[in-house]
Amino acid sequence: MTSVSPETVGESASINITPQTLHIGAEISGVDLSQPLAPALRQEINEAMVKWKVIFFRQQNLDHAAHVAFARQFGQPTIGHAVFGHEDGYPEIYSIAKNRTANSHREERLATPWVGWHTDITAAVNPPRASILRGVTVPPFGGDTMWTNLAVAYDALSAPIKQLVDGLRCIHAFAPPAGAKTVDEYDKSVKRRTLKTEHPMVTVHPESGERLLFLSPSFVKSIVGVSPRESQRLLEMLWEHVVRTEFTVRFKWNAGDIAMWDNRATAHLAPNDIFDSNFDRQLYRITLVGDVPCGVDGAPSVSLEGEPILSVEEELARR
Ligand code: SIN
Repeated sequence: MTSVSPETVGESASINITPQTLHIGAEISGVDLSQPLAPALRQEINEAMVKWKVIFFRQQNLDHAAHVAFARQFGQPTIGHAVFGHEDGYPEIYSIAKNRTANSHREERLATPWVGWHTDITAAVNPPRASILRGVTVPPFGGDTMWTNLAVAYDALSAPIKQLVDGLRCIHAFAPPAGAKTVDEYDKSVKRRTLKTEHPMVTVHPESGERLLFLSPSFVKSIVGVSPRESQRLLEMLWEHVVRTEFTVRFKWNAGDIAMWDNRATAHLAPNDIFDSNFDRQLYRITLVGDVPCGVDGAPSVSLEGEPILSVEEELARR
């Protein structure tokens, strides 16, 4: 298991980095994200994201334009959501509203410990490298988001299981839950832009070199080359492992906060408890164009259906 040495905790030259758990999550203070960031500061923030997997900035109160400007300093924004659209006037921004389309099959899902956990858009051959989420309307209580560290999850496997998963590949796709009864907006959106990809089960992080158990429970449908029963049983064992609480961090939002995560090295869980209250919840997300992941043998992911996710400018030009 990864351990934290004393020099990994505490203050950097210009920003304060406060770890939130042993393995994942750090709160960063001492920076105003509404201002352009010096290259050294950008690098420090990126390094903190790669190290801690998800970083939090409190009370930044960015508007749409400032959110986009902040994101552009770390990469090329994608279209808001490759499947579910974007905000009017801000093609880079996806509205994470309480009752958005992506939640439509919520009640038909099996209530397993890993239900809802996902890595953003792994149905694409090049899932986003990072996601930047901004809280605007936040419930007074409830509505927390959780992330899990896929590097620590891989590290914690025994040597024989590591050897097994290193050689496996999985099919990732958008699809309603097995047994879903209705055809709704979710299904129509998913059909309009079908995305299906074969990813290695273990990917190698392009910046840190860490091995990652690249399992996105909501999007992984099966393991390639094994029987359906082997696939299901093995996936259930690994999904349960990936969401073990000691690999996770839980973030309690205030309006104005920002969470930025390394989408290559994490899975996250949007809250379900918000549906048990009348509180509203509105967040906005920007994702940055990612590379095609590679497995431990160097073999890249392979698209089975659909185009790679391009920058917002390229995406709009091809429509
Ligand atoms: C997301 O899945 O990106 C949104 C997480 C949330 O709603 O907290």
